[in-house]
Amino acid sequence: MKRAVYPGTFDPITFGHLDIIERSAKVVDELVIGILADSRKKNPLFTIEERLHMLQESTKQFSNISIQVFDGMTVDFAKKNNANLIIRGLRAVTDFESELQISQANQQLDSSIDTMFFTTSLEYAFLSSSIVKEMASYGTDISLFVPKPVVGMFHQKFPDLISAEKLNETSLL
Ligand code: COA
Repeated sequence: MKRAVYPGTFDPITFGHLDIIERSAKVVDELVIGILADSRKKNPLFTIEERLHMLQESTKQFSNISIQVFDGMTVDFAKKNNANLIIRGLRAVTDFESELQISQANQQLDSSIDTMFFTTSLEYAFLSSSIVKEMASYGTDISLFVPKPVVGMFHQKFPDLISAEKLNETSLL
């Protein structure tokens, strides 16, 4: 049984993450998505409970995926789940340097755990959770970048957010 973990902050999950989830779930038997609770990233927009909810809602279509919240090191999270593979996405050269360093550090910590990289699909190469949050904070429609359940959760945080439906209505006038 090939089991992998896909760790991240997911504040929020984007179509870029979903692309990696979908593709990696095809090559492993089980994929455990790990939401890092004690992320060094300051002031997350969404609580752990909200991120867990959005990931559950956005990955319902996959039968071999589970989601957990974890604290501490990713290798320990992988070990706890009997996984010997860590999945990561690579968007650009800038990701490569830091991901290489992290994967090598993880290898030193536990040589039985490998990292498998997926190159992010071109259409999501520019995407990041921060970009989506910035767009939403200015009221821009974000439905092209995040799954539908996440759009709904953004509307609760930013009531002035423009919906795709509303944009269509306006352009028809
Ligand atoms: N498409 C679109 N966006 C993507 C993406 C993709 N395929 N892959 C990553 N991103 C974006 C994310 O949206 C995020 O954007 P943000 O910085 O604006 O929030 C950014 O790239 C990085 O996110 P992510 O890939 O989720 O990683 P992360 O930085 O949130 O989390 C951990 C990194 C959790 C894997 C890493 O910090 C970790 O393992 N921490 C635990 C401690 C540890 O074991 N450290 C390693 C050894 S020292």
